[in-house]
Amino acid sequence: MKILFSEEQLQQGISRMATEINQRFGHEPLTVICVMTGSIILVADLIRQLVMPVKLGSVHACSYRGGTSRSELELDASMLPNLEGSNVLIVDDIFDTGHTLTAVHQHIESLGATCVETAVLLYKHGREELDFQVNFIGFEIPDEFVVGYGLDYQGIYRNLPYVGVMESHDLAQDES
Ligand code: IMP
Ligand code: MG
Repeated sequence: MKILFSEEQLQQGISRMATEINQRFGHEPLTVICVMTGSIILVADLIRQLVMPVKLGSVHACSYRGGTSRSELELDASMLPNLEGSNVLIVDDIFDTGHTLTAVHQHIESLGATCVETAVLLYKHGREELDFQVNFIGFEIPDEFVVGYGLDYQGIYRNLPYVGVMESHDLAQDES
């Protein structure tokens, strides 16, 4: 495992994002939607630096069943609060192909929110399949599989306090 962003670097990036979000929304109420499970740690750190009244909701999106390749997206939005007339910020851990954020964004817009913006900790370059504009980005990264600070490989590594790059000897032998 190679460390890509240390705890300190992550906190600097998150503070910068929080400042941008505070500037964008001022003191208007904001509903933050945590895209579970990967963004749970980011959301916890980010919302404590927001100055407006914040409501918190979540959706569960899952496109990785095990390894590092993408499968069909499953979206469970059954736990959302009422979003009609709200300013909404969808927060995900990473933008990779763009399928997750595009699907969550479309769904949230259909629920009558006034404004729907998006924030990700990491934006991975070279894998975008959909043309989607993310509003707030922590860090841009090359096309490498990363774990830690919420991001997992086969369900583990989410608790690492840093973001690391999986190296070939970290990946399971039998993954194809
Ligand atoms: P997308 O739908 O292809 O943009 O993928 C977004 C989702 O895939 C994220 O919410 C992550 O859960 C997962 N993902 C994409 N790249 C990585 C990675 O490098 N490490 C861990 N999870 C990833
Ligand atoms: Mg995810």
